Amino acid sequence: MPDWELHYQSREITGQPPADVLMLNQHLLSGAGQALDYACGLGANGIWLANKGYHVSAWDSSKVAISKLSQYAEQNNLSIDAEVRDLEAVTVMQDKFDLVVVSFFLHRPTLNFISDMIKPGGLLFYQTFSGENNNGRGPSNPAFRLKRHELLEVYNNMELVFYREDNGLGDPCKGISDQVMFVAEKK
Ligand SMILES: C[S@@+](CC[C@H](N)C(=O)[O-])C[C@H]1O[C@@H](n2cnc3c(N)ncnc32)[C@H](O)[C@@H]1O
Repeated sequence: MPDWELHYQSREITGQPPADVLMLNQHLLSGAGQALDYACGLGANGIWLANKGYHVSAWDSSKVAISKLSQYAEQNNLSIDAEVRDLEAVTVMQDKFDLVVVSFFLHRPTLNFISDMIKPGGLLFYQTFSGENNNGRGPSNPAFRLKRHELLEVYNNMELVFYREDNGLGDPCKGISDQVMFVAEKK
């Protein structure tokens, strides 16, 4: 696992785009309500959502990333409440968010807590690596990569809206055949 504090020390917020799962499904966004950028890093998803009108909470365990994001939000007058949180610890919070986005983070034991935090009618956007690492991108440890259909099984109590899992087919160096994209609505 990378040393995330070190990683973020040498990086700045420079208008990185949000995750593809948000971009591809932006017609689903109302732009109103509370959103959560979960394991936000420098908060590309949260910044994009705040610019669309959401009040954003952004959580990550990296103090450096959260400090850079808080400063950026203040300077740009964005409604982002960035907080240092260990997301491997249990967060019991029911029906709080209208939208949660998770990109490139996976901690299996707490996957169900993510859906618990979404209000009925709210949306979960999830994108991360899946299968085996055949192209040098993303983690090699299977603990941090989704298994086939895993999100469909974990969130089978949600209403599926959008799903893509190329299962490593095609050119492993092109596109997103090594990732899963998932959007579902909380019932
Ligand atoms: C690959 S980065 C993804 C960041 C961001 N979501 C993105 O798509 O750019 C993984 C993030 O997970 C965070 N992270 C790792 N373990 C964590 C934990 N236990 N609690 C909270 N955040 C954690 C890291 O600090 C890092 O920012």
